[in-house]
Amino acid sequence: MTTESVNQELIDRQLVEEWADKPAPLLGVLHAFHTRDGYISESAMRAISKVLRQPLADLYGTVTFYHHFSREADGFNKPRVCTGPVCSLQGGKECLSALKDKGATPMPCAGRCDEPVPVLIGNEQFVGDAKGNLTRKATPLPPVNPAGIEEVVFSKIREPERNTLSGYRKTGGYEGLTRAVKEMTPESVIEHVKASKLAGRGGAGFPTGMKWEAVAKAAGNPKSIVCNADEGEPGCFKDRAIMDYDPFAVIEGMTLAAYATGATRGFIYLRYEYPETSLVLEKAIAEAYTANLLGKNILGANFNFELYIRRGGGAYICGEEGSLLNSLEGKHPFPRNRPPFPVTHGFENLPTAVNNVETLAAVAQIIKHEPEWYVNLGLNGNAGTKIISLSGDVQRPGNYEVPFGLPLRTLIYDWAGGPKPGRTLQAVTMAGLSGGFLSRDDVESATIDEPSIRNKGSMLGAAGMIVLDDSRDMVAATHNAMEFFAHESCGKCFPCRIGTQRLMERLNGGGPNDMAVWLEEVNDINEAMKSVSACGLGMAAPLVVESLVKHFPEQLKVHVEKR
Ligand SMILES: Cc1cc2nc3c(=O)[nH]c(=O)nc-3n(C[C@H](O)[C@H](O)[C@H](O)COP(=O)(O)O)c2cc1C
Ligand code: SF4
Repeated sequence: MTTESVNQELIDRQLVEEWADKPAPLLGVLHAFHTRDGYISESAMRAISKVLRQPLADLYGTVTFYHHFSREADGFNKPRVCTGPVCSLQGGKECLSALKDKGATPMPCAGRCDEPVPVLIGNEQFVGDAKGNLTRKATPLPPVNPAGIEEVVFSKIREPERNTLSGYRKTGGYEGLTRAVKEMTPESVIEHVKASKLAGRGGAGFPTGMKWEAVAKAAGNPKSIVCNADEGEPGCFKDRAIMDYDPFAVIEGMTLAAYATGATRGFIYLRYEYPETSLVLEKAIAEAYTANLLGKNILGANFNFELYIRRGGGAYICGEEGSLLNSLEGKHPFPRNRPPFPVTHGFENLPTAVNNVETLAAVAQIIKHEPEWYVNLGLNGNAGTKIISLSGDVQRPGNYEVPFGLPLRTLIYDWAGGPKPGRTLQAVTMAGLSGGFLSRDDVESATIDEPSIRNKGSMLGAAGMIVLDDSRDMVAATHNAMEFFAHESCGKCFPCRIGTQRLMERLNGGGPNDMAVWLEEVNDINEAMKSVSACGLGMAAPLVVESLVKHFPEQLKVHVEKR
């Protein structure tokens, strides 16, 4: 080593040491180097390895697993252009080619499907067009629903200055936490949330009150609250809007979760692609500390809660809670085998509640009201509301908060204006991409709730919906989806690692050209993936192919037999 490189490593070690005693240091350190140097240099890698005591080979595997941490000089400042499933329909690939001479590279879905095409340069976010022109635009505010139906999470989001502490308080913010701390025991907060029938909004729909109760009762301290703000599912962009315009609702929800469960530390795990949201959250957290709404003896009660932000490195699988926890701990972000579940063995193997952004923002409202208020907002026996991220070939894309049980047709046609002029609806994806397609007929009869969507052979999940009109090639759309799953499969288990690749090939001209043989092979792969994949990615990926076979057999037949 030269004297220069020894000196550089000493400087780099100092940077790592600044992080070493903080909780969940690795992601913070990687971002610090990425921003400072424009990439993660060899010297930075050696310094991290030594100070955080991680073998260099393991560290190399972890850093390169993430999409965004560049190992090439100045990689951080080169444009990354979204070519995800929605953006590729709306100029993403053309935008990428137009920016090629600036060193642009593609990135998987970046969570701005309502206003394509997102482009990241360093920590700045732009909206690009097919010619490569870039403009700065704020995250779109959610459209107001034309039916005047009562909202919960979005009820105050359009109020000016809602993302400042004074603006938040002026519009009813922190009334829930004040009520909880002054008038309720932790047990009664849990009972209240249980009675509201709130279930997780991140996709799995687990009852929130039950999750909190399990954490409260679990042995081991300190306990943690983790806000899952990874939002990597293509077609989902609701959490970004909540955090940009109503960050205190998320912070208040986390603080309520901490009060209820006895947790003393919290993390917001924010996806890499939302750097400006990170600034909004940092500012809000600082304001909350100043006003004694975070930290020690919150609101004068015997209750402490410290809150940290950690930004991911770009990996869809890090939205899966086990993978997220490994990522926070600085380990290779593979999903964890379950059981045990995070409620007993979460962050650092201690009790942890992992909750989605929307779930936590809803809690802040629910505690202000009686549980029945929330339950009764749903239609036809369903409880509460859900935010739908609607994108693709629809006139008014955006985030819409709907009562559970609303006819799907009402949302797509009456609220969002239906397909673009001269076009008809061909299909709508559910759960982002993970639920596969519903057909035009399904849209006419489905209501927006898990039982109705399951009845159609799909799932609502986190409720991203991408509309595809009659101009779209459904085999190509399915191939795009499988390309995403294959790219994002973490590779831990072979049915998903290999199955997503084999399905992708069969959707792109590979495999047999006899329809019966094609179907037999694909069915075989699907069944293997669904029954033995280790996490939801591998279990759900076959749905998109199954729904292609079910709803669009003519298009598929042409694709298979033309070879
Ligand atoms: C592949 C995969 C990706 C996921 N991505 C997310 C995500 O981006 N955000 C999220 O909140 N939950 C995601 N989940 C669900 C989480 O594992 C977990 O159920 C959720 O964060 C729990 O919060 P909730 O109960 O409030 O929904 C994902 C699950 C899988 C299998
Ligand atoms: S199913 Fe896929 S994403 Fe999930 S653990 Fe297995 S390889 Fe990884």
